[in-house]
Amino acid sequence: MSGKLFLRTYGCQMNEVDSAMISGVLADAEGLAPTARPDEADVIVFNTCSVREKAQEKVFADLGRVRHLKRDNPRLMIAVGGCVASQEGAGIIARAPFVDVVFGPQTLHRLPELLARRRTSGEAQVDVSFPEIEKFDRLPAPRVAGASAFVSIMEGCSKYCSFCVVPYTRGEEVSRPFADVVGEVAALVERGVREVTLLGQNVNAWRGDIGGAPADLAELLRYLAEIEGLERLRYTTSHPREFTQRLIDAHAELPLLAPHVHLPVQSGADRVLAAMKRGYTVLEYRSIVRRLRKARPDVSLTSDFIVGFPGESEADFAATLALARDLEFDGSFSFLYSPRPGTPAAELADATPREEKHERLQRLQALLDAQAHAMSESMLDRVERVLVEGPSRKDAGELAGRTGNNRVVNFRGAAALAGRFADVRITAALAHSLRGELLDA
Ligand code: SAM
Ligand code: F3S
Repeated sequence: MSGKLFLRTYGCQMNEVDSAMISGVLADAEGLAPTARPDEADVIVFNTCSVREKAQEKVFADLGRVRHLKRDNPRLMIAVGGCVASQEGAGIIARAPFVDVVFGPQTLHRLPELLARRRTSGEAQVDVSFPEIEKFDRLPAPRVAGASAFVSIMEGCSKYCSFCVVPYTRGEEVSRPFADVVGEVAALVERGVREVTLLGQNVNAWRGDIGGAPADLAELLRYLAEIEGLERLRYTTSHPREFTQRLIDAHAELPLLAPHVHLPVQSGADRVLAAMKRGYTVLEYRSIVRRLRKARPDVSLTSDFIVGFPGESEADFAATLALARDLEFDGSFSFLYSPRPGTPAAELADATPREEKHERLQRLQALLDAQAHAMSESMLDRVERVLVEGPSRKDAGELAGRTGNNRVVNFRGAAALAGRFADVRITAALAHSLRGELLDA
């Protein structure tokens, strides 16, 4: 079989990795090649996100936009996967009856089967179950483009923060076995990958068994660091509750660990953290950051913040601003709280007017943006080791690379440098990228 696949991804990096798997599975099973045009597709897949209401509603608007394509191509299959699919299940078909298949983050490997059953039975298919970690055993080898790759090492979340849908849509934490992770990373390195980002909703909740002994993320990192040819290692997203001293020590011991940690704090007020069920206090969070910076003084720290959680007072918000100011975060994300159906926080009374929440969000974002820019300016004249990704997006005559603290640098250099590390002196700090000059390849 052959044909074309139009795939749109919403939301987080976990979904990006899942989408790469979806393309791989459909290329293998049905010979589908990717297309950027829904009107020439034989299969359309929306890999959705339900973490905030806006992302969720976008899916239904986008579905409405492809509906008419079925008139011209009656064989067109439309599938909805990801977290909205997981949460709504058959409800998607009820709201959009032209959808053929609904699948969840843990059943994406069954997509060919579901499509086949839809074609023979004529009936829409729904499978949003959580068959443990079966999906990784059924997937084709990852396809890599370039020198940087993502490797999923655990799935799901068992933290049940009171505002969050993820534990319900992706299921509880399940780790991939040690040998599978090491095998995948080694195979990627053999194919030219130089930088690997380990992924998980709570990546530091990874637990494994190494030669009969229990192991954690710190131990896994130490093993991966031994793989010859692997030059940079990242992991995301980590949770403060499991950010152990062992993991902090790994940052002091392993030079290949990138000097960047994404550690969502959500709020700077203990009252709010408790209501969010985050499982740590502001003091504990500060202590992690202090010890991490001691272990690795050049580490850059990014975070996630939720503004306007039910009951957040002006004083609570001021505490969040103060924390952000003190800890000098770099390039962080802040979101307006979005009540998610089925989560405990959605039941909480919320007296703060919308305009006030918006105004708080703007104040926090202004601070975070200013901090990120100050960090970029402090990099001026510094020599950075960058992994060259390929031609720059704006000017194909230039190269784009990524620094240890995850900034894009554009600079002049030979195309043959793609996929290699190079030393680049930073010459300008722009709003969303840096400029530099190549010193030595
Ligand atoms: N595992 C991560 C952690 O340690 O917090 C978070 C994963 S979550 C999918 C990504 C981010 O989305 C969170 O850090 C939070 O800031 C944001 N988020 C989750 N639920 C939200 C909600 N109901 N409203 C607004 N933002 C939300
Ligand atoms: Fe969500 Fe909290 Fe887990 S934010 S993904 S329930 S750590």
